[in-house]
Amino acid sequence: MRQPLVAGNWKMNGDQADASKLLDGILAGLADVKSAELAVCPPFILIPAVASKLAGSPVKWGGQNLDTHHSGAYTGEVSGPMLKDFGCTYAIVGHSERRSYYGEDDNVVAMKFGAAQDNGLTPILCVGESLEERAENATESVINRQLDEVLDAHGIASFANAVIAYEPVWAIGTGKTATPEMAQEVHAYIRGKLVGLDAGVAAGIRLLYGGSMKPDNAAELIAQPDIDGGLIGGASLKAEDFLGIAKAAG
Ligand code: 13P
Repeated sequence: MRQPLVAGNWKMNGDQADASKLLDGILAGLADVKSAELAVCPPFILIPAVASKLAGSPVKWGGQNLDTHHSGAYTGEVSGPMLKDFGCTYAIVGHSERRSYYGEDDNVVAMKFGAAQDNGLTPILCVGESLEERAENATESVINRQLDEVLDAHGIASFANAVIAYEPVWAIGTGKTATPEMAQEVHAYIRGKLVGLDAGVAAGIRLLYGGSMKPDNAAELIAQPDIDGGLIGGASLKAEDFLGIAKAAG
């Protein structure tokens, strides 16, 4: 049985006061969350404050990105060892905003996946197609390509310590959610691909849906057999909404 994971991607939002208030709200509502694991991924600069607030709680935290290198002359970057030093459990890699705004290609994403694992972090690998790609019926080939680069670099065994988030680009921050059937179809495709490589790894890996997930659509999405939780953007910035999704996850 896969434990649902509900992870908040705060993106570039909030200051220290916002983060503190948001975490107070989340911590105050945890008693109503039955089985889901919760995690938040704040902007790097807020991680120390988040780490001290969440230490000793069941809520985990992670980075939204990391560099491919472990240290050195890479101005402006943050490395896996630094995230680990601040108690991170997770690192998001290959978010579509990183791919499209910062030119991260599949090769860089695969290196970041490895850099996370090398430092004891669990990568949350994001995959997903654009609107044009869906219109061209290219969803599966895009996801195949995005997964294959990581599989070729690190092997199927590496997915025993990873999470995959399916985030259709057209659903991110748009208020348009994939229907549960559409999302399930892609999740089943991803799991089916992994089954062909290692059935045990495929059965254990958590596949999250991301893209305008909200308290009122989360239950139906997470009820799908291959959807094991959510990677939440906008709705993770309000404790009530984030908790609402966590409760819907069971
Ligand atoms: P929204 O929930 O705001 O659509 O963002 C999803 C996302 O990109 C999470 O990584």
